[in-house]
Amino acid sequence: MLDEQAILDLVKSASFPSLPEDFELESYIKENRVDGDHIHLEITLPFPCEGIKQQLAGEIESEIVNSWPQSKRIAIEIKHRTTAYETKAGVPPLAKIKNIIAVASGKGGVGKSTTSVNLALALKAEGAKVGILDADIYGPSIPIMMGIPNARPVSEDKKTILPLEAHDIQTMSIGFLVDEEQAMVWRGPMASSALQQIVRDTRWGDLDYLIVDLPPGTGDIQLTLSQKIPVTAAVIVTTPQDLALADAKKAVTMFEKVKIPVMGVVENMSTHICSNCGHQEAIFGEGGGNILSEDYDMPLLGQLPLAMSIRQQLDEGKPAVADDPESKISLTYREIARNLTANLSSLGKDYSKGNEGIAIKTWSPGN
Ligand SMILES: Nc1ncnc2c1ncn2[C@@H]1O[C@H](COP(=O)(O)OP(=O)(O)OP(=O)(O)O)[C@@H](O)[C@H]1O
Ligand SMILES: [Mg+2]
Repeated sequence: MLDEQAILDLVKSASFPSLPEDFELESYIKENRVDGDHIHLEITLPFPCEGIKQQLAGEIESEIVNSWPQSKRIAIEIKHRTTAYETKAGVPPLAKIKNIIAVASGKGGVGKSTTSVNLALALKAEGAKVGILDADIYGPSIPIMMGIPNARPVSEDKKTILPLEAHDIQTMSIGFLVDEEQAMVWRGPMASSALQQIVRDTRWGDLDYLIVDLPPGTGDIQLTLSQKIPVTAAVIVTTPQDLALADAKKAVTMFEKVKIPVMGVVENMSTHICSNCGHQEAIFGEGGGNILSEDYDMPLLGQLPLAMSIRQQLDEGKPAVADDPESKISLTYREIARNLTANLSSLGKDYSKGNEGIAIKTWSPGN
C-alpha cells in the first residue's frame, strides 16, 4: 500500500547515487504526506548540496515511480540547512561560526593551501557561507591564491579587523598584517598567540564553515589550534607517495591525541594529467589515500589529479572552483566538500548555535 510508512521504507532501503556514501537520508525527512496517489516529500539536508538537489529529487522520484507506477503527483523538495556541531569542551565558542574545519598534512607542499581554497569555494558553490583563515604564519599563501596579495584589512574600532572578501569568501591571513621576514623570526609561542589573536579579533560575519589552512607539520601552531580554537573537525591532505603517507599518519595521530575528529583524507596529485594529450598517469604510485583511510578507518573524501590548470589558476588568483565551478576538477572539489560536511553528521550537535531543537510551544487560554 502506498502510504507514509511505505515512502519512509523506500527512502531507507534505496540507494541514491548522488548522496555521499552511508548517508542516512531518512533522518532528514521534514515532511512526508501521502494523499491517495499524491505524494509530498520535503527533505532538509544538514550539509550544503546545491550541486545534487535536482539529481537527488530525480532519483527519489524514479524510485517511487518504479515501486508505485500509479502515483500521479509527486512533489519532492530538497533544502539544506547547515548544522552546527559540538567542539571540544572548554574551548570558548565563536558565536558567528557554525563549524571550523582544519586542513592539515604532516609534510609540506602536498597541496593543503590548494585544497583549502578550492574546498572553501566548493562549499560556497554548494550554497554555504564560508570563510578561510590562513594559519600558515611562516609562509602564508592564501592572499595570492585568493587573488588579493596586496590587500590590507581595515580596523574601524582599532580593536577588531574586518575580513577581506575574495570570490565571495571571507578571507583572513597573517600575510595581510605582517611582512613575511618579520613573521619568520617569531618563535613558536609568539606565532601561536598571533594566530589566536587573528581568529578572535577578526569580525567574521555569519559563517557556516571556516576553513583553516594549517602550516605543515605537527608543531606549536597545530597544538594552539586544538587547544584554543573551537575546531570542529580536521581533513588530512596527502599525496600517494609513501613518504608523504608516513607524514600524513603523524598528522592523524596528532589529531587523535588532541581529540579533534578527522573526517577523512583528500588525495592530491593522485594521477598526472598531461596538458597536451590528456593522458593520465599515476606517477606517484596508486592508492595512497586508500591505504591511509583503510589503516585508520576513515573515508577517502576524493582524489585530485596533478594538473597544470590547478597550479596556473592559483597563480592567477582564480582557483579552479572560482574560475569555473562546473569544470570536472571543480565538480570533484564540490563532491569532496559534500562528502566532508555530510560526514560531520556523525558528530554531536551544538544546540546553542541555531540548530533546530525541540519545539516548545507555549499555551495560553484563547490560543
Ligand atoms: N593537484 C595539483 N595539481 C597541480 N599543482 C598543484 C596541485 N596541488 C597543488 N599544486 C601546486 O603545488 C604547490 C604546493 O601546493 P600548496 O601550496 O597548496 O601546498 P601546501 O601543502 O599548502 O604547502 P606548504 O606546506 O608549503 O604550506 C603549489 O604551487 C600548487 O599550485
Ligand atoms: Mg600551504
